[in-house]
Amino acid sequence: MNATLTDKEFEQFQSLIYDQVGITLDAPKKSLLTSRLGKRLRELELSSYQAYYDRVSGKGGEEELTKLVDLISTNKTDFFREPVHFDFLREQVLPHLAQPRTLRVWSSASSSGEEPYTIAMTLNDAIPDCSMWDIRILASDISTRVLAKAASGIYEDERVTQLPRDVVRRHFLRGKGEQAGKLKVRKHLAEIIAFRRINLMAPSFPIKTPLDVIFCRNVMIYFDRPTQATLIGKFYRYLRPGGFLFIGHSESLQWIEHQFSYIQPTIYQKPFE
Ligand SMILES: C[S@@+](CC[C@H](N)C(=O)[O-])C[C@H]1O[C@@H](n2cnc3c(N)ncnc32)[C@H](O)[C@@H]1O
Repeated sequence: MNATLTDKEFEQFQSLIYDQVGITLDAPKKSLLTSRLGKRLRELELSSYQAYYDRVSGKGGEEELTKLVDLISTNKTDFFREPVHFDFLREQVLPHLAQPRTLRVWSSASSSGEEPYTIAMTLNDAIPDCSMWDIRILASDISTRVLAKAASGIYEDERVTQLPRDVVRRHFLRGKGEQAGKLKVRKHLAEIIAFRRINLMAPSFPIKTPLDVIFCRNVMIYFDRPTQATLIGKFYRYLRPGGFLFIGHSESLQWIEHQFSYIQPTIYQKPFE
């Protein structure tokens, strides 16, 4: 295969990716798209970028679209990444919850699961009678590949080397035999998390109960301002009054119109009515 990505084809991909997943691919990304898609074309034995475009935009192209998103965005994540949010959850959110003790949290770009499992660990360690609470964490992402990894709850040893030993001991099982070198998240964390594929560009989300906290970290950087504003408006609708929105450290709502109260960098609250 010796295909080239023409400007017209690149524009087609730009529109498709923007319309379907909200990601803005600017002109300098053309060479990145060329090389990453080139590999995929070879895997699929397709002879042109146009043929790939037809496949991904055509009927049944949804699954391939998630592969395309994986090629152009990063799934980088970590346990306890940006710890300020977990401290805030423990110190500022939990003490103010109304009775009965229910808690609904959404990790809305959960990648391979480190974020929702960290939320679960934080809650489990902070709440002495955790099993008496009604806690549900929804973990979602557009990529079925990372969601499958997240749902397996299995991680390489080196993913947890930065965590205190007692945290690892409490929340992970060490693999033996063929699973040596791997860890599996314990049941008490896994059973409070539901993994779903949700595209943040969908006009509405399959969420019925108002949420206490939404994590939307390190994905909005891929979206342009109008797309961010629409998403933030949707998050506002799904939060309960007084609920919190956590965004990534390099993200801000400063330039978009919204109704949230600013609490501190990367933390916003839906006002009480
Ligand atoms: C860098 S990871 C962020 C992981 C985690 N939130 C964190 O901060 O560590 C970004 C994730 O956003 C997902 N993503 C990209 N576009 C999306 C969309 N339109 N809807 C849902 N998830 C999306 C990607 O698949 C990727 O897993």
